[in-house]
Amino acid sequence: MSKTFVTKAKQMLHGGDYNPDQWLDYPEILADDIKLMKLSHTNTFSVGIFAWSTLEPEEGVYHFEWLDKIIDDIHGIGGNVILATPSGARPAWMSQKYPEVLRVNASRVKQLHGARHNHCFTSPVYREKTQQMNRLLAERYGNHPALIMWHISNEYGGACHCDLCQDAFRTWLKEKYNHNLKALNDAWWGPFWSHTFTDWSQIESPSPIGESKVHGHNLDWRRFVTDQTIDFYKNEIVPIRELTPDIPITTNFMGDTPDLIPFQGLDYSKFAKHIDVISWDAYPAWHNDWETTADLAMKVAFIDDLYRSLKGQPFLLMESTPSLVNWHKVNKAKRPGMHLLSSMQMVAHGSDSILYFQWRKSRGSSEKFHGAVVDHDNSSENRVFKDVAEVGRTLEKLSEVAGTNRSAEVAFLYDWDNHWALQDAQGFSNETKRYAQTMHQHYRAFWENDIPVDVITKEHDFSSYKLLVVPMLYLASEDLISRFKDFVKNGGTLVMTYISGLVNESDLTYLGGWPHELQEIFGMKPLETDTLYPADRNRVSYNGKSYELKDYATTLDVAEAKVEATYEEDYYANTPAVTSHTYGAGKTYYIGGRLEDDFQRDFYEGVMKELEIHPVADVKHERGVSVQVRQAPECDYIFVMNFTEDEQHVHFESQVTDVITGETLHGDVTFEKYEVRVVEKSK
Ligand code: GLA
Ligand code: ZN
Repeated sequence: MSKTFVTKAKQMLHGGDYNPDQWLDYPEILADDIKLMKLSHTNTFSVGIFAWSTLEPEEGVYHFEWLDKIIDDIHGIGGNVILATPSGARPAWMSQKYPEVLRVNASRVKQLHGARHNHCFTSPVYREKTQQMNRLLAERYGNHPALIMWHISNEYGGACHCDLCQDAFRTWLKEKYNHNLKALNDAWWGPFWSHTFTDWSQIESPSPIGESKVHGHNLDWRRFVTDQTIDFYKNEIVPIRELTPDIPITTNFMGDTPDLIPFQGLDYSKFAKHIDVISWDAYPAWHNDWETTADLAMKVAFIDDLYRSLKGQPFLLMESTPSLVNWHKVNKAKRPGMHLLSSMQMVAHGSDSILYFQWRKSRGSSEKFHGAVVDHDNSSENRVFKDVAEVGRTLEKLSEVAGTNRSAEVAFLYDWDNHWALQDAQGFSNETKRYAQTMHQHYRAFWENDIPVDVITKEHDFSSYKLLVVPMLYLASEDLISRFKDFVKNGGTLVMTYISGLVNESDLTYLGGWPHELQEIFGMKPLETDTLYPADRNRVSYNGKSYELKDYATTLDVAEAKVEATYEEDYYANTPAVTSHTYGAGKTYYIGGRLEDDFQRDFYEGVMKELEIHPVADVKHERGVSVQVRQAPECDYIFVMNFTEDEQHVHFESQVTDVITGETLHGDVTFEKYEVRVVEKSK
């Protein structure tokens, strides 16, 4: 596998968000920063993210000298700069003079100036102002040798419901429905509750004081919000592409807490097409009181695999905390060992960076107790600073890993439209649908067995995978269903579950039963989905064992399919729960109920055996240890990570070299609590 470097630095990036604009009155602090950067083994700094009021304190009055000096100073120590555009927060003068830049919320309340991430994404004034500022930045710094990447805005998200945005939404709808209002009414099931529109001007965005019950409408609004955000972003980058065509562009993506599921506000699969490098901000709540460390590590692995697969190349961890955050329910510090372990996990899944929010802890306001590399004590001797320096030294030894990728025979399909529509579906149980968490339940079986997985989205070609796992794909277009059929016909194995294939891309149900092509490839059809109360249980018998079922059980009408498992209780006792079917050169499995983890473990073990899908490295261990690989042309880099609080015995079946210590390892090796090793195995 060849290497793909995501920046011209061609190294592991280490550093993070640096806000010197908060410290311009403290020259001695700025001088210390440069010294501390060297001591912490950091090399990359994202500057200017929230600097607009310093860059342009009055309309048309610009101050760049301070930024010139910062960038030169970073360059002076051999560092890299990721330069941000400041649109994530704007100066007060702008909101005051041009109120159209302020957001209007879904209840149609115009917001006051304050906080951040709250601009109108349609406002011509804001678009003009951001483009103007970005042009100045690109003109001034575009050729600076320290500049390796653009960081456009910050964590795009949210929506605006002002009149400008209403007009933009209607224009978007006209385009989508070819100016045919009947087509829109059909897609939105207009006559329901007398919701047929007779003029485009009657349409408004969904609102708690207005419309919220038309599912096609909600779905189109969410799609519009993604497209309008991308449109705003595309406007931001016009001067940047023009003046610096060779500098890659990113914008930092997010995850949703507490389960660290993919961010729901925007369809990142669409956004990914417009940016050069995926980067994201990861804040897992390590050491929490509701899940094991290994469970959380599995969730981090899943979202990393999704964000990496969006572009099929290394990504960047744009923000993380070296210690704690300020916005979790409880802001707990990382225990000794966790910072290195959690950082190495990101690299193992494809990150070419460990970057932090924030370099220096702010002195005032809401983030003054958020973790940082440099604390208020300004010391290089505290635990956090030393942990950061250790990560820095480790990344220096892993420079050859930068640019390497991962390959997988297994893919999971994740879909934002599906998540939105499923959340909206007023059926089943709103509390237990848990689409992304259901993905986790299935993904766990692969993570525990060190089977690499790509988490792909629906535009991705399926043909290179042996196995495609598609849990709870409630919304599936006819076109996607046909692609599933082709995949199976050509030899692929497809797994689907309960609550799949029920509605089309407009969130309209399929008529005449389950889509015919699905019936054909599965050799059966689902009949009825029973939604259980949270405390209800049923059981399923599979291969002579009994497994617990909760939340959902779908009864099946089996035609040619083979019955693999049956329900044990209730009115559908002894009827099929899991089926398989050979179709063309491939095979399908349908899992009718939500089953305990042990079922997924046993079931997928069988599927993996059948498909000859093997662990990625010959390293044996107990549950809770994860082994992930990045592949260089001449060797594999194997990351062995102990996500348990116990000592673990790991067995290396082949001889490998520890990249950090230089030791040769073969046979049994003891791993301490949270210990991680990166080893190299020649090909
Ligand atoms: C986000 C933002 C940062 C900072 C961190 C705190 O990721 O992008 O500016 O507020 O959260 O965790
Ligand atoms: Zn607006």
